[in-house]
Amino acid sequence: MGLAIETRNLVKKYKTRKGSSITVVDNVDLQVEPGEIFGFLGPNGAGKTTTIKILLGIIYQTSGDAFILGKEAGDIAVHRELSYLPEKPYYYEHMTGLEVMQFYASLFGMKDIAKCKSLLERVNLGNDMNRPISQYSKGMQQRVGLAQSLLNDPKLLFLDEPTGGLDPIAHIEIRDLILQFREEGKTVFISSHELSDVERICDRVAIINKGAVVAQGRLEELLVGGRIEVTANNCTTELADSLRDSHNLVSINHGRMIVDIPDSKNPNDLVGAIAKAGGEIVSVIPRRKRLEDFFLEAVSGDNIAKGRHQPSMLEATETEETDS
Ligand SMILES: Nc1ncnc2c1ncn2[C@@H]1O[C@H](COP(=O)(O)OP(=O)(O)O)[C@@H](O)[C@H]1O
Ligand SMILES: [Mg+2]
Repeated sequence: MGLAIETRNLVKKYKTRKGSSITVVDNVDLQVEPGEIFGFLGPNGAGKTTTIKILLGIIYQTSGDAFILGKEAGDIAVHRELSYLPEKPYYYEHMTGLEVMQFYASLFGMKDIAKCKSLLERVNLGNDMNRPISQYSKGMQQRVGLAQSLLNDPKLLFLDEPTGGLDPIAHIEIRDLILQFREEGKTVFISSHELSDVERICDRVAIINKGAVVAQGRLEELLVGGRIEVTANNCTTELADSLRDSHNLVSINHGRMIVDIPDSKNPNDLVGAIAKAGGEIVSVIPRRKRLEDFFLEAVSGDNIAKGRHQPSMLEATETEETDS
């Protein structure tokens, strides 16, 4: 079987009020394998939702190609195999969870109440299915969304920020459900800026910044280059100075020194040198490179840490498109 999702040189431009055009998806090439959980990461405004909407055929690209399950994005035959949980799902608040499910089932021409109930049970809403949505927490609403997204037994799920704004317990519940989807052989495409969720569940990721993919690959390949952190007491400043040139001296404070070395190196020489100089080893701890570090490196030069938007993007008008 070929790729579940593939894009080639995908571009989306919008016209600005001043008449120029801005590129919000910039030559994006994505390859998503069938059966994997793929994380699509990027700061706010990076172009994640826009890309998903193109893949779903909700909006059209300005140029480039997008293929879903071997067919062009937007192909009606493929729609039966897909489902989509939008970033901000909207439900009629007076409806109960079960009524919402029946409503969506009716859109697929389904009348199977037993299936609606069993999906609600699956997302742990069995006891709440007859309560109105207005009484549901955000996490419960998100779980209704996941139940609804399973109605057509999709091969490929698009989840746009599925854990955004949820508390830690709700995060875990949603994560566990997504992992179950993979066990059933489904392909899951998740857009997120919740890096810890992505790090725990995704097989591969792409990082998008200002519309362009800046990194893509298997997590374990991207996160090479961890460190080994050695902590010791009774260290003199002379010892610290002697190590400074050849090692990364993290700190020396009241004789407590922290030094780190790349995880490709053996720490024995460093430990020996510290002990020889009278230092007392407290710990030697391997620290894997975190996705957060990798993400910040990949999008560096940006003010994402301060949550600033890109001014040129904010100038864009809401709906005008350009075909240039
Ligand atoms: N209909 C539109 N008209 C103009 N600009 C848009 C439109 N939709 C999205 N944008 C702009 O495209 C950029 C990417 O948006 P989006 O894909 O929603 O980002 P993300 O999902 O990564 O937060 C943003 O700067 C946004 O303002
Ligand atoms: Mg978005």
